Amino acid sequence: MPRIAVIPGDGIGREVIDQGLRVLQHLDGERGLDLVFEHLPYGADRYLETGTSITADEMQALRRYDAIFLGALGDPRVPTSQHAKDILLGMRFQLDLYINLRPVKLLDARYCPLKDRAPEEVSFVVFRENTEGLYTGIGGQFKRGTPDEVAIEAELNTRKGVERIIRAAFEYADARGLGRVCMSDKSNAMRHGHDLWQRVFRAVAAEYPAIEASHLYVDVLTMEMVRAPDRFDVIVTNNLFGDIVTDLGAQLQGGIGLAASGNIHPGQAAMFEPVHGSAPDIAGQGKANPLAAILSAGMMLGHLGHPDLEDRIERAVRDCLQADRVTRELGGTLSTSQVGDAVIAALDA
Ligand code: NAD
Ligand code: IPM
Ligand code: MN
Repeated sequence: MPRIAVIPGDGIGREVIDQGLRVLQHLDGERGLDLVFEHLPYGADRYLETGTSITADEMQALRRYDAIFLGALGDPRVPTSQHAKDILLGMRFQLDLYINLRPVKLLDARYCPLKDRAPEEVSFVVFRENTEGLYTGIGGQFKRGTPDEVAIEAELNTRKGVERIIRAAFEYADARGLGRVCMSDKSNAMRHGHDLWQRVFRAVAAEYPAIEASHLYVDVLTMEMVRAPDRFDVIVTNNLFGDIVTDLGAQLQGGIGLAASGNIHPGQAAMFEPVHGSAPDIAGQGKANPLAAILSAGMMLGHLGHPDLEDRIERAVRDCLQADRVTRELGGTLSTSQVGDAVIAALDA
């Protein structure tokens, strides 16, 4: 009985998670997966009502689930995003989910903004380091609010952290017969941390002689993702660069409403979430595209030992895209729940 913690969160997070759950429950009914869902109320409403985002005990309790299914966190009523930092970054750091796996996979060529690109030409994964980099909050402010103020944000790069994400990228490529791993940093400007990335990358790459290891500075990476996305199988990069390039990747595959992700520590807890945020501009209007959440639910099923169901969800999503059964931002006419209906119908077709 796999136990799944469900954290819908804020804004469209709740709307898209509802559809992801419908898909999971549909497959559960058909296959008898015995999934047990436990809904957890962590988000802006609770934070504003009680002042608590997530307690230390609640965070530790998340370790006991087989997986966590998250919508999004972020609410204009919390301009500091304190609760999102506590809950989302809290999970990534405290549960040590060091792999942020973000596939960039074009499912239907018509939705690609690049000219004449076939789906197989836009098909790679990004391994985003998820527990250090510029996200740790290490730093400080001095003389805040004065003309002389200083603000320092330190980038943390540990040998352990850099090595495990790079190794995970090579292991993934090796296991799937993917021939190329590209590491991206900014070592021409960042002399200390990114020099560490360089040295660790060369050392780990040497252990995988059958895999072509290449390097691009991150500015060139963004250019190459647009110019020649077919040159990538696996990209590995740090936390901030990974955040940025996966929004670019999301557009290559048809938009932020299609980008799924997993936050993984092999053998331990894992959390699955769409790459997009809570989209306050469209929240509560039935406009949100639930396909990223549904694909993330598929990744979660793959992680729970059902790769066949992950593939089936992906095929159903592809069928919906091909049949224009999509929300408005993709040129369709359907609401969030109607896209959920369409995916379920496609699963059965
Ligand atoms: P966003 O991803 O929420 O929205 C960016 C744009 O994309 C908006 O125009 C939005 O309407 C559109 N969009 C996003 N998801 C969509 C979907 N499923 N269907 C259709 N359109 C969609 O990014 P933002 O506006 O920068 O952030 C809003 C809030 O969400 C902020 O508080 C931010 O910090 C937070 N955020 C949270 C997460 C997360 O929890 N993982 C991720 C990103 C942003
Ligand atoms: C993401 C988001 C988060 C990040 C924000 C909300 C902190 O943009 O999951 O991509 O930067 O990791
Ligand atoms: Mn992001």
